[in-house]
Amino acid sequence: MSRKTFYIETLGCAMNVRDSEHMVAELTQKAGYEPADRLEEADLILINTCSVREKPVNKLFSEIGSFNKRKKAGAKIGVCGCTASHLGEEIIKRAPFVDFVLGARNVSKITDVIHRPKAVEVDIDHDESQYAFGEFRASPYKAYVNISIGCDKKCTFCIVPHTRGEEISIPAELIVREARKAAESGAKEIFLLGQNVNNYGRRFSGEHPKTTFTDLLKMVSDIEAVERIRFTSPHPLHMDDAFLEEFARNPKICKSMHMPLQSGSSRILKAMKRGYTKEWFLNRAQKLRQMVPGVTISTDIIVAFPGETEEDFEETMAVLEAVRFEQVFSFKYSPRPLTPAQNYPDQVPDEIASARLTRLQSRHNEMLDAMKKEREGQVHTVYFEELRPGNTVAGRSDNNLLITVPGSEELLGTMRQVRITEAGRTSHRGEVIA
Ligand code: SAH
Ligand code: F3S
Repeated sequence: MSRKTFYIETLGCAMNVRDSEHMVAELTQKAGYEPADRLEEADLILINTCSVREKPVNKLFSEIGSFNKRKKAGAKIGVCGCTASHLGEEIIKRAPFVDFVLGARNVSKITDVIHRPKAVEVDIDHDESQYAFGEFRASPYKAYVNISIGCDKKCTFCIVPHTRGEEISIPAELIVREARKAAESGAKEIFLLGQNVNNYGRRFSGEHPKTTFTDLLKMVSDIEAVERIRFTSPHPLHMDDAFLEEFARNPKICKSMHMPLQSGSSRILKAMKRGYTKEWFLNRAQKLRQMVPGVTISTDIIVAFPGETEEDFEETMAVLEAVRFEQVFSFKYSPRPLTPAQNYPDQVPDEIASARLTRLQSRHNEMLDAMKKEREGQVHTVYFEELRPGNTVAGRSDNNLLITVPGSEELLGTMRQVRITEAGRTSHRGEVIA
């Protein structure tokens, strides 16, 4: 008899990508499944969802409706991830053809729920900290490694603490063991993951020696086979001097930093409960630029948070000018259930929100166009990870620029010196020079 097959669609953040890898590991190693090439062929269809903004949640129901039409007879559909945690059994009420609902903190139960009709597993107290590392990775070249689960911050716009639960750090020795294993089997790049990575070590599920994120970075970089370390997401509040100094000093840590600003107005940051001011953010960004030549900085910005005035928005624009982010993920504020900000007065009308988002994005595009000129001719060490159409291969520079060169398989998994020949806004073309 042929083996059963599964198909997974993954939405949202890197944590979801890793959770999907965990589910693949469980299904293939414990339940005898193998991946299907197409949804129409699969016996099991999973959608790993994101609930951070409202739009994707609305899209979910039309999407699973279309899965239901396309699936083969008898195939099961499971809704997993943050929207599963948030809506729970309501998903089955609204879409009765859904076979089970599996929350973001419960993905280790995948082989259990597939056998339980209409199962709903969404307990956010479920402790997965011992279940950190599934034995499957989508890429042989880089390994995502969870260092903590959940989030203890209470940013007033954010639903994540409700879907992923309280923050628990995974013991450092498990992380180091996992990173070593991945690196020794060829993944030269280790990508440390958590909602709030530089808050690492505040709480473990059992007794563990005190370890900060800075300590952890040193421990992972001591592994000989590890050549590059990336991490996401750090929080600007916890960017203390020791962390920035280690970031600057340690040659294995890639020189790109995500600094989620959210707003440039200290008044709005306070209403968001972000715990830092505009001045602190600018001070950290400036210190980073001074200490690390060539560093790239990316950010997340929310426009039109409740109560945001034109003056507040101008302050966000001023930070954009001052920091010169290489990448900006910008969003209109989206009111989320279970969050305090949904009930704040002075919700900003959608036309104003759209106008602010457009202005922010156009100005950032102009800034990127100006940066392009500086990029051309630069030489970077690029780690090649992906074949692209037209006999090209793509990889990332140490400072996270996406660079594509003519070439084929033999470049995959290698680090080469590459000169940028044609810079773009989000990706660049280059040539291998050594
Ligand atoms: N700690 C995570 C945050 C996850 S949410 C991280 O830093 O990656 C990712 C981003 O989505 C946030 O940084 C924020 O900019 C955006 N976001 C979260 N809630 C939102 C909301 N209600 N409306 C609009 N954007 C939101
Ligand atoms: Fe969300 Fe703030 Fe945590 S953005 S994931 S509550 S750091």
